Amino acid sequence: MNIVTVRDYRALSGMAAGIIASQVNRKPNCVLGLATGSTPIGTYENLVDMFREGVVDFSKVTTFNLDEYCGLDEENPQSYHYFMREHLFGHVNVPEDGVHIPNGMAADVEKECGEYDEAIKRAGGIDLQLLGIGHNGHIGFNEPDDVFHDNTGMVRLTPSTIEANKRFFDRVEDVPKTAVSMGIGTIMAAREVLVLAGPDKAEIVEKLREESCSPRVPASILRYHPRCTLLFATAK
Ligand code: F6R
Repeated sequence: MNIVTVRDYRALSGMAAGIIASQVNRKPNCVLGLATGSTPIGTYENLVDMFREGVVDFSKVTTFNLDEYCGLDEENPQSYHYFMREHLFGHVNVPEDGVHIPNGMAADVEKECGEYDEAIKRAGGIDLQLLGIGHNGHIGFNEPDDVFHDNTGMVRLTPSTIEANKRFFDRVEDVPKTAVSMGIGTIMAAREVLVLAGPDKAEIVEKLREESCSPRVPASILRYHPRCTLLFATAK
């Protein structure tokens, strides 16, 4: 994993958007893996600006989001469907049928997850996967565990993730306890991975420099990815 330290969040967002736009310009029909959370918001703002300036065109792009809470429908402002519409899809020209986000309302979650992985394979695999990282080292919603989970599946959120994400909800009790997340195997199969970490992630980024690979720090597996860059902003 190549860890690149950048000056601040603004620089991180500009750099990440540049990497994504270059990927799209190099391969207009590419497959992007996308993340939600606070960290990629600046990246999406930059991509929207670049789209408006005619620097990038998403008309042939396919996207797969990492995860979605269970039990929140698309119109729920806390859902990741809503987030993606607000921050990216509502402002750029990714075709509607090219957008994929796990369905947290699926009656048969297991079937939904299997189909999600199949759809990624059918699309030719992910060219560039964007990731944030949890304070506990989670990627997607793959929480610290005794084993790495390969495929997209339903996961139980840890108390620390529920605590970290309560800022988006009125009350901590409203944070869903489960989510659907791409698996570690699905993430590792992406041809390139770009991880974004703001200054609040200094501790976990330090751990990634030192720690050997363990499912207790899910992001530590990224050290074995052949093309993974982590952009770390040292200031807000
Ligand atoms: C979001 C996701 C999570 C976040 C992580 C960091 O789709 O899968 O892994 O990337 O929780 O979130 P922020 O950026 O809000 O600190």
